[in-house]
Amino acid sequence: MNIKKIVIWGAVILVGGFLLIQLAPYGRNHTNPPVQSEPNWDSPQTRALAKTACFDCHSNETNWGRWYESVAPASWLVQRDVEEGRQNLNFSEWNQGGKPREAGDLIEVLQRGSMPPAQYLLLHSEAKLTPDEINQLIAGFQATLKN
Ligand code: HEC
Repeated sequence: MNIKKIVIWGAVILVGGFLLIQLAPYGRNHTNPPVQSEPNWDSPQTRALAKTACFDCHSNETNWGRWYESVAPASWLVQRDVEEGRQNLNFSEWNQGGKPREAGDLIEVLQRGSMPPAQYLLLHSEAKLTPDEINQLIAGFQATLKN
């Protein structure tokens, strides 16, 4: 085989593989189950900040994103984030087991800057909070948890 043939076959295999993985059912289940219960928010502002930064993965009000987030393999990563996110914390099923294991985790992840995850912020700059907003959200979570 000459180089040209190898390149052509390589391209065919790549494109074919890309098309084939689109057939996998995983990643296409863009459902938002009904909202059952939310925390007793201390203020609409706390909820608004949480909605901006957290709701895509930790609520039943997920905005499933732009078209390319529905194309495999990106769609697989999105699906996994939402499934795992909702399992760990779901603001829409607060009294149905949606609370985090430790209430303090809500504050900790913000202090550490580990949430929202970095790879998500790359594509969702609108979810990035300023240092001021982070402090507001921390105070808001603390007041909400006391409610
Ligand atoms: C892109 C999706 C996504 C966004 C947005 C997001 N999270 Fe998460 N979160 C996850 C995933 C996935 C997990 C479970 C795996 C892990 O711990 O990394 C998780 C786990 C958690 C946990 C439990 C685990 C721990 O470390 O204690 C808390 C608390 C949490 N997130 C809080 C938040 C808060 C608060 C926000 C908003 C400021 C937020 N998350 C935004 C995806 C997300």
